[in-house]
Amino acid sequence: MMKAAVCGVAVLVLGIVIVAEAKVFDRCEFAAELQRLGARDDMLADWVCLAEKQSNYTTSASMVTVWTGTHGIFGISDAFWCDRSASIRRRIRNYNAPNICKVSCEDLVDDDIADDFACANKIFNAHGFHAWNPWAVKCWQFDVAVYLDDCIEDKLIKPLTFTDDEDDDLPPGGVN
Ligand SMILES: *[C@@H]1O[C@H](CO)[C@@H](O)[C@H](O)[C@H]1NC(C)=O
Repeated sequence: MMKAAVCGVAVLVLGIVIVAEAKVFDRCEFAAELQRLGARDDMLADWVCLAEKQSNYTTSASMVTVWTGTHGIFGISDAFWCDRSASIRRRIRNYNAPNICKVSCEDLVDDDIADDFACANKIFNAHGFHAWNPWAVKCWQFDVAVYLDDCIEDKLIKPLTFTDDEDDDLPPGGVN
């Protein structure tokens, strides 16, 4: 009881978790959508694992605190990548995040994940998958191929044209 009360206060002070009017992708459906958006075969399983650990494939997933927050299916941070200045400026004077993806954070929580994926690729190009803590903790050094096995078997995604052996030769993040 005490614990619950303390926890409730912490949530109130530090932030709110918003999960509303979501499109929740099925795992294989999400993988197919990423293929459509041009994801590389040798990175697909890592993207899928990341989205599962970050948001459970929920497009509206958000973790927003007073100072900063993450937005959408890939949990993109407004500290650098998307613009939440309008709402933040009301609380913090002269707040100005770089908004590297040149996108409004609000656009990252709708059902269209094309802009999310474009921004996620920018993050990947800058930092690799290690930019995402859930990936580092729950996907890196795990056999992420299992996230796609049934999708391939059931022909829910296009066949992948690389082998796991090649994957093993890649450094973390799948960068050549
Ligand atoms: C995803 O759903 C599972 C099962 O309900 C839950 O244990 C896990 O914490 C969720 N993960 C995220 C990132 O929401």
